[in-house]
Amino acid sequence: MSPKTRTRFLCQECGYEAAAWLGRCPDCGSWNSMREEELARGPRRGITAAGSDSGGTPLPLTEVSTREEERLPSGIGELDRILGGGLVPGSVILLGGDPGIGKSTLLLQASEALATGIGREDECAVLYVSGEESARQTRMRAERLKISAANLFVLCETNLDAVERHCTELSPRVIVVDSIQTMYRPETSSAPGSVSQVRECAASMIYLAKRRGATVFLVGHVTKEGAIAGPRVLEHMVDTVLYFEGEVHDQYRLLRTVKNRFGPTNEIGIFEMGDRGLQPVDNPSRVLLEERAGEVPGSAVVPCIEGTRPLLVEVQALVTPTSFGMPRRRVSGADYNRASLLFAVLEKRGGIILHAHDIFVNVVGGVKLQEPASDLAIALAVASSLKEKPVRARSAVFGELGLGGEVRAVNQSLARIRECARLGFDRCILSQHNVEGIEAVKGIETIGVRMLGEALEAGLNG
Ligand code: TYD
Ligand code: MG
Repeated sequence: MSPKTRTRFLCQECGYEAAAWLGRCPDCGSWNSMREEELARGPRRGITAAGSDSGGTPLPLTEVSTREEERLPSGIGELDRILGGGLVPGSVILLGGDPGIGKSTLLLQASEALATGIGREDECAVLYVSGEESARQTRMRAERLKISAANLFVLCETNLDAVERHCTELSPRVIVVDSIQTMYRPETSSAPGSVSQVRECAASMIYLAKRRGATVFLVGHVTKEGAIAGPRVLEHMVDTVLYFEGEVHDQYRLLRTVKNRFGPTNEIGIFEMGDRGLQPVDNPSRVLLEERAGEVPGSAVVPCIEGTRPLLVEVQALVTPTSFGMPRRRVSGADYNRASLLFAVLEKRGGIILHAHDIFVNVVGGVKLQEPASDLAIALAVASSLKEKPVRARSAVFGELGLGGEVRAVNQSLARIRECARLGFDRCILSQHNVEGIEAVKGIETIGVRMLGEALEAGLNG
């Protein structure tokens, strides 16, 4: 008699497990997302952290070696930077993003650069496992990208057992799995892309990475809501999560570290998609301000900090009288609720009457402003559009806005001011508290303000 197979109902969005079918996942709240799947059997394998050298015995913390991990440069500067200085052997990196945004392109380019850097001619340095495209398609893409490394191997396979076998035979230093949703384990009966398959396959690749000291890239698809398709659990399992942001038809693509066990998070790298693949952009602030129309109403520039790097970003606002009873508000590139709050503060504390106006706010270049430091720029852009008065030329502005209309200090103000100066700005409006604490930067005048009113005065009339 064969043993009874155990099945479970798994939420395809978040990986929640239940014994019976449910219409709505109690964990993440999505409807009709439970699927019946067979549970994987066989011994469970644990995963130890990369480079753990204590061999499983307890050690005094002070005796753990602090030897810096030898990192492997990927040869693509922007990618290395956001990873915190190259690839850590034995680590697993998940790369997510919309279809067609450039995941395969970036990883193929990185594979070539890595293979060239690693050397080991005639052997396999990098193994590119393609589950979505045929070897011929990958070859055609490689020709377009002028890729010619002989030690870059491509494998078209979706059976993970076979992938593991090839990895053991060839022992590559870097393995790319494009994509994790196409991989399957024959022992697990559920369909490729389902939660149990994705989780099982990712666990195997993580185990392989740790055991062999290889770096593994996993490509993950993204759902409409912007999460990696299938289980959110994937994000918890890997060491680093990178996301491609921006629109498929934008020229620029932003790559952001959402999680990183070996470096800073929220770091962004900017790439430009051209006819020879993705090229890193060396001076992102300049690129983001390139198409700025000069002195027009409704535009303000904010130095924001993305990860560890300051970046100048233009915020645009358009305020028009509303033609229906209900004013419309659209915000892209910033948090809608935060913006609504700023509109209220503008009305109440700044005397900018907006209740009979439609407001549209847009952040140029596909950047998403997440810091409160951009409050003042959004407020100033809106006020500038309403009053039809441009913000004074070559002025940048940053600061958090409180509910009382007070302008609050933000961190890293010196780095922000320096970036403004570097790009030819000669005036920066910021919180008075920030001005007091910092040294002067050559070529730029800092204007400290305490209240919203002063900031509007300095920005529009000063
Ligand atoms: P791709 O890497 O296939 O996206 P993903 O793997 O994330 O689905 O991206 C392909 C897109 O990039 C496609 O629209 C064509 C475009 N592209 C270029 O513009 N230039 C190039 O050199 C390459 C290889 C692709
Ligand atoms: Mg692809």
